[in-house]
Amino acid sequence: MGRQVERVAVIGTGLIGASWASAFLAAGLDVTASDPGDGAAERLRASVAAHWPSLEAIGLRPAADPGRLTFASNAAEAVEHADFVQESGPEDRAIKRDLFAVLDAAAPPHAVIASSSSTIMVSEFQDACAHHPERIVLAHPFNPPHLIPLVEVAGGVRTSAAAIDTAMAFFRTIGKHPIHLKKEVRGHVANRLQAALWREAFHLAEQGVASVADIDAAIAHGPGLRWALLGPFMNLDLSGGSAGIRGLLNSPLGAATRAMWDDLGAPSDDPGLTEAIAAGVADARGGRERAEIVAARDAVLIELLRRKADAAVLP
Ligand SMILES: NC(=O)c1ccc[n+]([C@@H]2O[C@H](COP(=O)([O-])OP(=O)(O)OC[C@H]3O[C@@H](n4cnc5c(N)ncnc54)[C@H](O)[C@@H]3O)[C@@H](O)[C@H]2O)c1
Repeated sequence: MGRQVERVAVIGTGLIGASWASAFLAAGLDVTASDPGDGAAERLRASVAAHWPSLEAIGLRPAADPGRLTFASNAAEAVEHADFVQESGPEDRAIKRDLFAVLDAAAPPHAVIASSSSTIMVSEFQDACAHHPERIVLAHPFNPPHLIPLVEVAGGVRTSAAAIDTAMAFFRTIGKHPIHLKKEVRGHVANRLQAALWREAFHLAEQGVASVADIDAAIAHGPGLRWALLGPFMNLDLSGGSAGIRGLLNSPLGAATRAMWDDLGAPSDDPGLTEAIAAGVADARGGRERAEIVAARDAVLIELLRRKADAAVLP
């Protein structure tokens, strides 16, 4: 552990694995991938080609080359010479357990083995690793990992501090923004924060407080703009003016903010709510194809990522 990463293995090349492979190639690394799905190799090459223009726009490392991608016939072969392994197989505990046992047996001892898992915790499959369970970490990306910098890094009960340090350093080196979770928690940090917002958004829609389009606008044309630049605590610190977050929380507005937490609701599980939200989103899309919206979103996101990288005063 701790040695420079030159060769990465990407295990599972669906939506997330293909995006990770693109990110690693753009960082100038050798990538060996594997996925048992029919036609997976061709799909992966097509995904990398599709992601490449965005990666070029963000900025490729000098040695970046999609030609440095190879496809192995199985997971054990893929990790044989890896310095770092990123697993993105199905979100299924039994599959992760079997897969990690294979990866741990086949990967060189110095290689950290990371899982992209959104909801399964490292401690739930780490004990299937008979050789070096201390090198198993969570490295949870955000879709699409080739564009979004955040990576949530966490250890399981048997993970070493050295493995966490190696993973954090590796992701920083390739231009990602890793955060370290000191405890395992279902859904990690960012998805739990999103879940809190979604819960209230669905509740407000069900209560008929505003239309689906207007609830979306309340974020996308409101606080969401700031949230792309600063997190909830720093935003609150700035809202407190010269008194900062402490002054704000100790003011009547702070008390009122806390009172609002107690007033938040929960949506029902009425299938009619799903239908109503889906119809509201379709109305808001107004006949535009999803692919058109994704392309426009990613184009603006790339500009934002570039500007953020230049704005050194932002944390
Ligand atoms: N979709 C997201 O937004 C998102 C975001 C962050 C993390 N994740 C996590 O990433 C992982 C992959 O999610 P996804 O959305 O790419 O799923 P996906 O279904 O698109 O891809 C999973 C891939 O795993 C392959 N696979 C099946 N069995 C396998 C095995 N035994 N070994 C290796 N590969 C195998 C499948 O052929 C498929 O290509 C999951 O753990 C998920 O929780 C997903």
